[in-house]
Amino acid sequence: MDYSKRLHALIPGGAHTYSRGDDQYPKNAPQILSHGKGAWVWDADGNKFLDYGLGLRSVTVGYDYEEISEAGIAEIRKGNNLTRASLTELKAAETMVDLFPWADMVKFAKNGSIVTTAAIKLSRAYTGKKFVAMCAEHPFFTYDDWFIGTTPMDKGIPRESKSSSLRFHYNNIDSLKKLFDKFPNQIACVILEPVTYLSPGPDTCGKDLSIKPDYKNCADKEKSFLHQVKELCKKNGAVFILDEMITGFRWDLQGAMKTYDIEPDLATFGKGMANGFALAALVGKKEIMELGGILKEGAERVFLISTTHGSEMSAFGAFIKTIDVYKQKDVTAHLWKYGKEFTDGMNALAKKHGIQKFFSVEGYACSPYYFTRDRNKDVSLDFRTLFSQEMIKGGVLIPWVALSYSHTTEELDFTLKAADKALEIYARALNDGVEKYLVGKSIKPVFRKYN
Ligand SMILES: Cc1ncc(COP(=O)(O)O)c(C=O)c1O
Repeated sequence: MDYSKRLHALIPGGAHTYSRGDDQYPKNAPQILSHGKGAWVWDADGNKFLDYGLGLRSVTVGYDYEEISEAGIAEIRKGNNLTRASLTELKAAETMVDLFPWADMVKFAKNGSIVTTAAIKLSRAYTGKKFVAMCAEHPFFTYDDWFIGTTPMDKGIPRESKSSSLRFHYNNIDSLKKLFDKFPNQIACVILEPVTYLSPGPDTCGKDLSIKPDYKNCADKEKSFLHQVKELCKKNGAVFILDEMITGFRWDLQGAMKTYDIEPDLATFGKGMANGFALAALVGKKEIMELGGILKEGAERVFLISTTHGSEMSAFGAFIKTIDVYKQKDVTAHLWKYGKEFTDGMNALAKKHGIQKFFSVEGYACSPYYFTRDRNKDVSLDFRTLFSQEMIKGGVLIPWVALSYSHTTEELDFTLKAADKALEIYARALNDGVEKYLVGKSIKPVFRKYN
C-alpha cells in the first residue's frame, strides 16, 4: 500500500514535522510506522527497525517505557484536562523548579517552539528593547516568524517580522560584541543552545568530548564562550537565554548548563522531558517570569503562554515519572557510556574500511553526530543518503543519532554489524561513484527555498 501517497494527499508535507518528511529519508525507509517499544520501531508491514530517531529526540528512556506510560495513563483516568489548574500540574511545576536552583518559576507548553518564542517576548517586555541575537550555527529555535524568517524558507513572512532578528557565531565572541556595538542598548536578548558538537572552550576546561564536562572545577571557566556571552549580556542589559531543547535531559538531568556551570536568566526545555509525551517548559528568574503573572496590582500585563491543552495532565504525569526514572537509573550516565562505545565502534569501522576521512562520528558522547563526506572531502547529502539507506537494509533507522536508556549492548552490537556492511558499500561508492549505489533521490536540506 502506498502510505506516502495517502499521507501527502491529506497532510501538507506528508507529516507533522518537516524532518519526518520523505525528502529527509532514503527511498527504502519505512513510509509509515505503527508502534515503538524500547529502542525499536515497527512499520505497517511488521518490519522491525532499531531506531536512532527516537521521536525527534523526544524519547530518552525508551518507547513505551512501562512505568512512564502507566503514569501518563493514570492521569488520563483522572480526566486529563480539567477546568482549573490540577494537582498534577502543581507537582510538575515543583519538580521542574527543584531541578534548577537558579530558577524560580516555570511555564509549561506543548512544543519547544512555543517556549522559545515566549522567552523572546518576555525578554522584550522586560527590557523594552527590540532586537534578538541568535546563534547562527544552531539550526532551529522555533517555527515562528522571528526565526523562520531568517532562513531561506521565508515565504509568507513579512519583512518586519524578521527585521529585528540578528545572528552571531558560536565560539566567536567578537561576532556578538559587534552586534552590541552596532545596536547599542537595543538588544533584548541573546538566545543559543549551550553547545552542539563543538566545545565552548577553552581546551583547559575539557577537550575530551567523551567525558561529561565539569566546568565548576576548571580555573579557566570564565574564558569559555558561554561565560563570555553571559558577561556581555549582563554588561549590555540583555536577557541571556539558553535553549536546552536538545541538550537538556542528555548532558545532565540538570541540563548542559550544569556541566558548564552557568546559570541563564531564562531557559527552554522540551523533547526528552517526558519520554515522548508532549511537554516543553520555559523556566526562569522571578523578576522576568512574573511579568506574565496576574498578582502585581496595576502592572502592565504580558500575554505569556495561554493554551487550552497546556494543562494536559498525562504529559505532566509522564514528566514526573520520567524524572524519577532518570534519578533511579542515572539515565544520563547511560547516554554518555553508550554514546562513547557507539562513537568508538563506528569510527573503528570507518578505519577498518579505510574511509575515516570520509565518514566520522563526532561530538559529545551523549549526543553524537555523524558526518558524511564525498571523495573531495566535502560534506555530502548523497553519501548521507547512502549511509542511511544501507543502515536501513541492516535494520537500523538512523536519520541522526539520538540515544536512549533502552539502547543497550544488544542494540550496539546490532548497530555495529549493520554499519560494517554499510561502510563497506560507502567505501566502494567513493571509488565507483555514489549514483551507482543510491536507489532513489538524495536527502534534501530542510531549509531550502524550493521543492
Ligand atoms: C534547539 C531547539 N529549539 C527549539 C526547537 C523547537 O521544538 P519543537 O519542535 O518542540 O517546537 C527544537 C526542535 O527541533 C530545537 O532543536
